[in-house]
Amino acid sequence: MIAIGGDHSALSLKKEIMAHLETRGETYKDFGTYTEESCDYPDIAKAVCRAILSGECERGILICGTGIGISIAANRFKGIRAALCGDCFSAKATREHNDSNILALGARVTGAGLALQIVDTWLDTPFSEGPRHKARIAKIDAD
Ligand code: RB5
Repeated sequence: MIAIGGDHSALSLKKEIMAHLETRGETYKDFGTYTEESCDYPDIAKAVCRAILSGECERGILICGTGIGISIAANRFKGIRAALCGDCFSAKATREHNDSNILALGARVTGAGLALQIVDTWLDTPFSEGPRHKARIAKIDAD
């Protein structure tokens, strides 16, 4: 199950991504926002992060205008590795090297066509499982 959420600036892109997830046969849960009324991206980030950390969802997609605010908010949560991606190379690399569990996108930065390719790349790329990468990821959450 994929958790998805975005602020008011991301509503249209989020709907395109959800339709795309459906065509891929993916299950997802929409954590809002559901209208174009202005809202605060940290609230959406928190809802999606909690769904992942509780095990309700395996990974997530978060969108705000730039993707910056919502990825900053998500990365405050221990165990969350949110990667802001504007290209497919980064989407592939962050799965292979960082085992990112959230993909962040900027709705005002990345067009829908590219965003869907980034989503596909990110969803389809496995973590490389290499010991170097595992050790580095463990250091992120070490006290
Ligand atoms: C909302 O206007 C905007 O600030 C937000 O979507 C995001 O870009 C913040 O980083």
